[in-house]
Amino acid sequence: MIIGIRRSYKTNPNFRYSKKLIPSLWIKEATDTMRKLLLTIIALVLFVLSCFCQKLILGINHCGLYYKSMEDLYKQKQKELEFYNFQPQQTIASIGAQCCNWEAAYAATTDSVRFYLEDIDSLSFNHDQAAYAWNYYTTLRNKPMSSGFELVLGDEKKTNLPGKIFDKVLIINSFHEFNYQKEMLEDIADKLKPNGILYIDETLARKSGELHHGCHKRIYLDNELISILDQNGYQYIDGLVLNYRKSVPVRKIFAFRKKS
Ligand SMILES: C[S@@+](CC[C@H](N)C(=O)[O-])C[C@H]1O[C@@H](n2cnc3c(N)ncnc32)[C@H](O)[C@@H]1O
Repeated sequence: MIIGIRRSYKTNPNFRYSKKLIPSLWIKEATDTMRKLLLTIIALVLFVLSCFCQKLILGINHCGLYYKSMEDLYKQKQKELEFYNFQPQQTIASIGAQCCNWEAAYAATTDSVRFYLEDIDSLSFNHDQAAYAWNYYTTLRNKPMSSGFELVLGDEKKTNLPGKIFDKVLIINSFHEFNYQKEMLEDIADKLKPNGILYIDETLARKSGELHHGCHKRIYLDNELISILDQNGYQYIDGLVLNYRKSVPVRKIFAFRKKS
């Protein structure tokens, strides 16, 4: 890599700058050990800097990422919160809730919402984990959470949630993991109130057939996901595209209603 840099530095101002900044990387006689040491130090400094700038921290002895402050939470999730528009007394389900960290963050910003958290993996998803997430945000917001939670263990084909009581059902980064999408969508339709909304938050594929970088299951193009839902009795009503720093959308929250 360094040889490549050396050849092109004359034309690239960034590389010329890096030559000034880290001269030993450019000295022919510099030993490999020295170069490795320098690169390690740079990587460590970048890592420490990135940790310092992070707005999220890992749970202690528990899974999930948690906001460092309510200010960070509101700043980063503001668009999502507006899109979900949780209202007092609403009943919300989250399918594939796993660590329950995102739901607890939403709960911290709401009043008197009833969350039903569902997953099929009782290893990560259990009462101790959900209580940790809820307690974390109780401390962060400095007052007790008025939105409570219940846990429901489902299976690959059904959620085991109570029928027809949900104003909103969320599927956050989990739809692509469903092995039985048709059965799950049928089950969820039965759990939503007649005018209830299903929100699917998914990483978008850049080309058809792409696999998720983490679990290697298939992820979908925007229109492919809408088409799957359409074939299973749902009508697309709205969407929130999350671009981060890239110009192409990388994540989207889709909102669907049951077809009448
Ligand atoms: C990538 S994790 C996402 C967890 C969490 N929603 C998040 O965004 O951090 C996917 C989760 O979906 C769950 N899952 C997979 N198939 C499921 C199904 N049929 N019903 C409910 N949950 C399922 C897995 O157990 C896992 O916890």
